Amino acid sequence: MRIERLEHENRRTQGLAQRALYQRLCPEHLRAVSHLLDCALAELPPHPRIAILGAGACTEIPLERLVPLARAIVLVDLDAAGMAEAITAVAHSEIGQSGDGRTLRRPTAVTADLTGGVSARLAARLDTLPWEAGQPPAEVLAAVAGALDATTVPDPSSAGPPATAGDGTLPSPGRFDLVISAIVLTQLFSLPLLDIVDRLHHIDPQLPLARDDDPVYQAAANRFRRRVALAHLHLLRALLAPGGVAIFLTDVVGHLLAPNSAIRPGQPLSPDLPKLASLTVLPSAVLALPADLLTDFSLVGVPRAWQGLAQAPQRGQPGRIFDLWGAVLRPLR
Ligand SMILES: C[S@@+](CC[C@H](N)C(=O)[O-])C[C@H]1O[C@@H](n2cnc3c(N)ncnc32)[C@H](O)[C@@H]1O
Repeated sequence: MRIERLEHENRRTQGLAQRALYQRLCPEHLRAVSHLLDCALAELPPHPRIAILGAGACTEIPLERLVPLARAIVLVDLDAAGMAEAITAVAHSEIGQSGDGRTLRRPTAVTADLTGGVSARLAARLDTLPWEAGQPPAEVLAAVAGALDATTVPDPSSAGPPATAGDGTLPSPGRFDLVISAIVLTQLFSLPLLDIVDRLHHIDPQLPLARDDDPVYQAAANRFRRRVALAHLHLLRALLAPGGVAIFLTDVVGHLLAPNSAIRPGQPLSPDLPKLASLTVLPSAVLALPADLLTDFSLVGVPRAWQGLAQAPQRGQPGRIFDLWGAVLRPLR
């Protein structure tokens, strides 16, 4: 399963070196996150309890700023090594006494699957399919679409926060003044869907391409994405204490940049950068922003859209940038 590779894969895209890259080539990304953080903190009493979902190495979340002001910080991710790196980075400078005499606590990490084990459930469904050599692609894809529809997505709005796969269980509901969804949403459904691509490729290397034009598969994939996305929003709401707010950060479109794209240090990324390809990772059919948030939340302040750099183009290799979207949300009760 792709989620099992996260700890390894994240090393290329997260951590102190990546944050230094943001600071040099894409400060707008860090500024946008800080702005939303300011907006959320202004809504909260002093010393909030904070949960950061999809925290990884907290590359874009300024943990060093949060430690002195928070009563408790819990990081949640499947990447235990990334979270340990984030905690170590603040351990030396920030743990001890705060200016007002409080003991500053080290953030804690919970290694847990935020979907409640969707990848494992889907894998179990796919294991039962009768894969046969020479089966017509439409038949294989219809069976996979059936497996997607039959995969349960635990949703806290129906039965409390999900039991989780991973070492830990998710933090208890109703405990946090601030819950941050740290650009994790699209991975929650994309990684199980990539497990399907891996299986199809194993049966017949042409099959993954066939799925692009298969309406039955595409419709089932979008229903699956939407169920996972709504369950995640319900998890944010469930984790919040009365009076709490959430910061929802997500990627929406990914772009591959031509290797010769010039990125100017300290400047916002130009909208005119030459793109080789673009992929909408969060289509509005899956989650309309902000319309689909307004069933459960009201917006605090104005949502923000910006671009972030995942990888700079270099030595003939394309770069990767993302269109990002973020908002501060207050649950409707
Ligand atoms: C794009 S990264 C977010 C950026 C991250 N906050 C950072 O420091 O760079 C997405 C994060 O979600 C985590 N993730 C993906 N799927 C997950 C799942 N099912 N449960 C928990 N964490 C998951 C990944 O390990 C990764 O750290």
